[in-house]
Amino acid sequence: MDFFILVYLPQVGMSRPYLFFDMQLHNSYYQLQGLAITDICNQFGTPLYVYDANTIVAQLKTLQTTFAESHVKVKYAAKALTNISVLKLLKKNGSGIDVVSVNEARLALHAGFDPKDIMFTSNSVGIDEIAEAVDLGVYINLDNLSILEQFGKKYGSSYPCCVRLNPSIMAGGNLKISTGHSQSKFGIPVEQMDQIKALVTHYNIVINGLHIHTGSEIKDVDVFMKMADILFDLAVDFTHVKFLDFGGGFKVAYKKEDAVTDMPKLGQRLNTAFADFNQKHNRNLELWIEPGKFIVSEAGYLFTKVNIVKKNPTITFLGVDSGLNHLIRPMMYDAYHEIVNVSNPTGKEQTYTVVGNICETDTLGADRSLNEVREGDILAFKNGGAYGFSMASTYNSRFLPAEVLVINGEAKLIRQRTTFEDLLHGQIDVI
Ligand code: LLP
Repeated sequence: MDFFILVYLPQVGMSRPYLFFDMQLHNSYYQLQGLAITDICNQFGTPLYVYDANTIVAQLKTLQTTFAESHVKVKYAAKALTNISVLKLLKKNGSGIDVVSVNEARLALHAGFDPKDIMFTSNSVGIDEIAEAVDLGVYINLDNLSILEQFGKKYGSSYPCCVRLNPSIMAGGNLKISTGHSQSKFGIPVEQMDQIKALVTHYNIVINGLHIHTGSEIKDVDVFMKMADILFDLAVDFTHVKFLDFGGGFKVAYKKEDAVTDMPKLGQRLNTAFADFNQKHNRNLELWIEPGKFIVSEAGYLFTKVNIVKKNPTITFLGVDSGLNHLIRPMMYDAYHEIVNVSNPTGKEQTYTVVGNICETDTLGADRSLNEVREGDILAFKNGGAYGFSMASTYNSRFLPAEVLVINGEAKLIRQRTTFEDLLHGQIDVI
């Protein structure tokens, strides 16, 4: 019952505290759903990705409730975290899914999603991969004129498609994760609308949806409303359009003081805009969204063990049993992931720089104030649910971490740590 009270709190307009569903410090032990983190790490070993099912479901429900008036279709962006158990959990709770490759589409089908709940938003793929997706029966979203023309030639009016537009809006956390600006490779520039229309007419293409994803970590509600203006404007001309897809990109907190997307405000403004448009134009357009981070970021943790405490003259390094091979976001985007010493919550705070064991500069957190850290302690990296495991690699021939889902008060292994045999798998010895 407690769980449902937590779920509905954000709906009544309260601003949700940072990491609302965070692990709890209880009797000097950090816990998730009543399970001690140190016990979970002892049982499954480190490095370990752990996801809290309650948070995942609660975040999904927040979106479903926020946009309920518009009968929103949530298409979870699978790229954020593709574990089959997570996909099944989301499906069970009413989510659809957005996939970026035909393999992700297959994973979604494997998890039990109906093809009509799968949106294939690819970029820079050839018509062969699009054709494979068509054969699977999923929704198709096209992001360039060349593929739109090839699609038109091949399918004419026999298979509908959505088009991804580039609105020339600079938004998002930083340039690397901003995708709707004029220099970005993504989407068909809105300036090329005449060419889209010419292809549509020439090949009788049925456009069933219009899509914009301007990037990740967008806190400004006005960005989504600018997208709405563009999409509604175009929807008037595209009479077969059934849905407008606003992509993902809702900002979650990585630091206590981080501003996040104001979901109640966005819900109110977007729901009103949808209702007004539908009434004015006698249409029944659906609102689609494709969040990744919003659903899984805060639900996940990477737990690592401190192998080495290295006291150099000016810096004390903590060398952990992980690195940029398992969490690339700090080095790739300068992303900040809060770090907590789970093993010594009451230790005196000191300043450390946390690094990995990879033969690269792989700083996971510089100048962090942590409760005193000893060799063997467990460090938690927060916001590990989105683009953590899914961007991990076996660089330096290190294993991929295991993954655990904490669900109904139990910690369940949902992916084994890779083994030495996995590293050799597929290699052909020709010498
Ligand atoms: N839809 C499309 C078409 C996308 O390309 C993405 C993310 C999403 C939805 C989901 O965006 P989200 O709600 O998760 O922000 N790996 C990076 C971010 C790049 C995401 C790529 N596309 C990161 O770790 O921050």
